[in-house]
Amino acid sequence: YKTSVSGEMDAQRPHVVCVPLPAQGHINPMLKLAKLLHLSGFCITFVHTRFNFDRLVKSCGPNTLKGLQDFRFETISDGLAPENERGILDLPELCTTMPVEGLRSFRDLIAKLVCSSSDAPPVTCIVSDGVMGFTLKVAQEFNIPEFMLFTPSACGMLGYLNFEELQKRGYFPLKDEKNLFDGYLETGVEWIPAMRGVRLKDLPTFFRTTNSSDTMFCYNIESVNNAVKAKGVILNTFEDLEAEVLDAIRTKYPHLYPIGPLQMLLKRFSNSDNNQVGSIDLSLWKEDAECLKWLDKRDQRSVVYVNFGSLIIMTAKQLREFAWGLANSKYHFLWVIRPNLVDGGAEVISNDEFVTETAQRGLILEWCPQEKVLGHPSIGGFLTHCGWNSTLESVCEGVPMACWPFFAEQQTNCFYACNKWWVGMEIESDVNREQVERLVRELIGGQKGNEMRNKALKWKQKAEAATSLGGSSYNNYNSLVLQLKDVNK
Ligand code: UDX
Repeated sequence: YKTSVSGEMDAQRPHVVCVPLPAQGHINPMLKLAKLLHLSGFCITFVHTRFNFDRLVKSCGPNTLKGLQDFRFETISDGLAPENERGILDLPELCTTMPVEGLRSFRDLIAKLVCSSSDAPPVTCIVSDGVMGFTLKVAQEFNIPEFMLFTPSACGMLGYLNFEELQKRGYFPLKDEKNLFDGYLETGVEWIPAMRGVRLKDLPTFFRTTNSSDTMFCYNIESVNNAVKAKGVILNTFEDLEAEVLDAIRTKYPHLYPIGPLQMLLKRFSNSDNNQVGSIDLSLWKEDAECLKWLDKRDQRSVVYVNFGSLIIMTAKQLREFAWGLANSKYHFLWVIRPNLVDGGAEVISNDEFVTETAQRGLILEWCPQEKVLGHPSIGGFLTHCGWNSTLESVCEGVPMACWPFFAEQQTNCFYACNKWWVGMEIESDVNREQVERLVRELIGGQKGNEMRNKALKWKQKAEAATSLGGSSYNNYNSLVLQLKDVNK
């Protein structure tokens, strides 16, 4: 495909409107897909919520958000409270306001983009996050084809696809809150195809409630059902990694495009003409790149990298257990503690003897360039919450994991990482310092850690093959591009 020259205006260029869910773990894969499509000759409009746009101006600088003529940014409303009244992102609240306020505001945006006085080329297609189902209504109203990008793993998605069955078979809603702790979640769910060995506790967590009309449970069912109306479903995974699961998903979505790992595919397609778009970074927190210099001074594979992603909130007690587990392991660690990671704040460890104890070994910061960190030769293992992006980024760099899944499909990712891909070891949800210490030692210096590292390196090679010329993701991406260019014919 002819590569575009940024800034050049061409009314004939196909124009894709990309709409991520306004959370970091959804913005990142959508941005990668948008960059790829731009390299394949599409003009891109990337849609942020107004709230995130203002945050991004602060964290990445106003220049990033200016956009270019053929890679532009627009905003819609998320309907949540004004900035000064917000705490952390409230997902159930967002899932309630977006389909109303987001819908209204997205409709206005599309009306603006398609009107004859707009300086953008005609909108060819919408690529929306799979959990932003309201965009489909607007797409239908304006007769614009829509594709959906689901940002979780395929195994996570298969979990959501079985939520209705969980309800039919009486697993949802829970009969009693006690079921969360009395061993009930250990129940096997062997009837789910392509998920051999999975227990209730390994499924996406939103069924773990006694409330029969739980917002997140219903929203996820609606999202996967809604997606059949899209022209195609795009996934950030690759055939070799999730072959059986992908086959099971295809029965629901015949037009399925597994094109991951997106970061690897993007590297294959990137060229030096596209530095301006290639360098766009959309981190909601300001990245501290100094940690890479700190890593330069450490021995190969000697450091454990600790990061719990962008959404989870842990208790001060959990933080303390991780802190002392890390300290007692005696290994070096690079630990990202986001400003809002800990309920009540992280002071509980900054005032502690933990700081003196680990001063020579630990570096704590608020946000880092994660993919670069994982690719650094000093990293020996990743203590992670198993968000799908983190899991895939770790696999892509051949880094083994200690997994502490928290919510959503992180539990499913953890199950697959530990029991199917053999690249992870699970930490109990009721975390204690002894287990953290033991698993960190095993991860960095033990035999199991080494075996998992070798396994991860094999997956990395398979991911490279999938994204190389003739590989499955490479081919799926090319079919997707043809579809996207052909949608109106
Ligand atoms: C999660 C998961 O995406 C998802 O699986 C689940 O459904 C809901 O929440 P998140 O917690 O953000 O989202 O985790 P993850 O998927 O791992 O995404 C985090 C992204 O932020 C990654 O791309 C990671 O590289 C990036 N990141 C994180 C940084 O760049 N720097 C950091 O310090 C931390």
